Amino acid sequence: MKQLLLGCLFVLLLGAASCGSGSVSSPPPPPPPPTDPDQRADLLLSQMTLDEKLQFVHGNLTLQNGVGPRNAAGWVVGVQRLGIPDLLYADGSTGVGDTVGPATALPSSLASAASWDLDEAYKYGQVIGKELSDYGLNVNFGGNVNLTAREPRDGRTFETKGEDPTLAGKITAAHLKAIQDQYVIAGVKHFAMNDQETARTQANAVIDERSARESDLLAFEIALKDSNAQSVMCAYDLMNGTFSCGNSHLLNDILKGDFAFPGFVLSDAFATPSSVPSALAGLDQEQTGDYMFDGIWSSESLRTAIQNGDMPSSRLDNMVHRILRAMYVVGVFDHPASVQPIDAVGDAAVAEEAEEQGAVLLKNTGAQLPLKASSIKSIAVIGSHADVGVLSGGGSAQVFPVGGAALTLPPACPPYTPPPGGLSCLNATQIFDPSSPLVAIQAKAPAASVVFNDGTDPATAAALAASSDVAIVFVSQWESEGMDLVDLTFANDQDSLVNAVAASNPHTVVVLENGGPQLMPWLASVSAVLEAWYPGQKGADAIANILFGSVNPSGKLPISFPASVADLPRPTIPIPNPPDSTAPFDVDYTIEGFNVGYKWFDIIGVKPLFPFGFGLSYTTFSISNLQLTPDAPVTGGFQVSFNLQNTGGVAGAEVAQVYLGFPAGAGEPPKRLVGWKKVPLQAGAQQQVTIAIDANDSSHPLSIWSTTSNGWIVPNGDYTVYVGNSSASSDLATAGTFHVGS
Ligand code: BGC
Repeated sequence: MKQLLLGCLFVLLLGAASCGSGSVSSPPPPPPPPTDPDQRADLLLSQMTLDEKLQFVHGNLTLQNGVGPRNAAGWVVGVQRLGIPDLLYADGSTGVGDTVGPATALPSSLASAASWDLDEAYKYGQVIGKELSDYGLNVNFGGNVNLTAREPRDGRTFETKGEDPTLAGKITAAHLKAIQDQYVIAGVKHFAMNDQETARTQANAVIDERSARESDLLAFEIALKDSNAQSVMCAYDLMNGTFSCGNSHLLNDILKGDFAFPGFVLSDAFATPSSVPSALAGLDQEQTGDYMFDGIWSSESLRTAIQNGDMPSSRLDNMVHRILRAMYVVGVFDHPASVQPIDAVGDAAVAEEAEEQGAVLLKNTGAQLPLKASSIKSIAVIGSHADVGVLSGGGSAQVFPVGGAALTLPPACPPYTPPPGGLSCLNATQIFDPSSPLVAIQAKAPAASVVFNDGTDPATAAALAASSDVAIVFVSQWESEGMDLVDLTFANDQDSLVNAVAASNPHTVVVLENGGPQLMPWLASVSAVLEAWYPGQKGADAIANILFGSVNPSGKLPISFPASVADLPRPTIPIPNPPDSTAPFDVDYTIEGFNVGYKWFDIIGVKPLFPFGFGLSYTTFSISNLQLTPDAPVTGGFQVSFNLQNTGGVAGAEVAQVYLGFPAGAGEPPKRLVGWKKVPLQAGAQQQVTIAIDANDSSHPLSIWSTTSNGWIVPNGDYTVYVGNSSASSDLATAGTFHVGS
């Protein structure tokens, strides 16, 4: 008998039709489980009850630790009986944020953009994704790609990737792709036009369709298409009169329609303006739960709407389908996050490299830098708590660094007081990452006397500088989510400090730690300026490596530095009227339209303090033999080739930038960035460089948005191609022109 059973089992395994004495036909083998994410999502969806579906589109408040299964900024409860895991969210534009746990503080996202290097940006994203996963979390609230450069005083500029939609979109895409490669769902935010923090829940961005498509929305489009990121966070603000999270034109028409985005839309925390209307407008999941707006998007309100016929159940199914599908696409089911120690050492090395590649040398008169340790006997290190650490940005992107904060200070809030219920920066803290410039500089110049002065008294700082061979002044500006800067002047009269030091020592080097553009009234009187942004966990080592020449700076500004706030499209930041009103108020973005940053300065014919794309090196480069090939056979666009030579005495890297001038009458600014390449070259070496511009690229490099055809069109006429190493006309050469049309 035992033998017969074993025999049957063997035969069954082989798939034979019968076994035993009688002839019994066995059922056909079950179809293999689907591998397609849409089919897998549908299979699960078909087994979910209404309650389970409602639970899956509803966020729970976990901002307070101890509420959810882990410290996290968001929590959606999974469905255990079907093997659907919880979704656990954490912020992370500059490293894993929130109070998840100590994480590697990367330099600002803006510093990552300043590398102009997609491989470098990928490594940056990898750190975020891997550490998030190591904390057992599976969704990242990062990817801030707002063009806050419209408002360079915006307190979140450090989280963004600058003013140009193509550069910002591509850098963001590299971050997001890397995060998803760690099986963590990545996303972009804040969709859309969340370009000022002041009264952000009331600000109504007024902008025409073409301008939006060719600026902020284009950055989102590129970031999503190039990365396949699966989530989009809608914003607090209104766009043309409708709250972003209930804006059907934004979410249904543009995002899910024109961009063909297959993932899910989640709200910014508490940004859900309504229940059924928002769901119908394209919102798929509420973050964070019904804490503030109790009941707006509660399970009950959606259930009632479905029962009453106010919302078709197919809409709820689609919401859940999109979330499940995203989980399959990214690998959340197949590669669940598991808690393990983060690789703090390896990730710190990435943080250092990101800063070394992103710091921008703005001035270097008389080859002041690099410093030669052998010939310097004394160095004054002044200001910005450079004895203990480097500054970081505040708000939800705040990283609590490995090793703990070197110093915490109360927030420096601007004078504008939001109306009751509005967000203020008061919850934030100024955190200095544990990376001491004083220690790093001393390590580079072990034989020199390196002395610190805190900079609070310009006179004593100047006296120390006068008795030192070199003075290095650290100047800093804190910024945070929930606030905008009043102006672009460094706080606490640090300009007087720089003036005093520069007046007493002709070898004054200024190192800037700030979120975005700043004014530098003392620029003419100092020898060198290094823009270090918020430098991150290993910022001091990176800065010292650059100051002493172990690393040759190669970063380029991803954002223009204006010479005056009077040159901005809005010299003062719009606020509610009257200031204590909680009603929406207009922020007029039709002033500059799509001409953000360098495009604006080109249009108004005003020179910025430092142009977009600018950055010096310890060597020099030449670009020669420019050759333009229109109608490039492969790309349908064009390609430009040239000889790039390192004409100086040390190895370095140059970012060759390609800008396109559109036909007169196309209504475009004088030029648009369409491509670039960062090329490392040994001293004296040269290389033939080709940059191909694909007409079908996600950045629509040859196209404008046509409101007539509701699509991208290539206008007829003459195009001019420029190549150089910044957006300033003086730094660009004409590669040639080509004609489109008859
Ligand atoms: C921010 C988002 C963030 C969310 C969750 C909001 O205040 O605007 O960027 O992801 O909080 O922390």
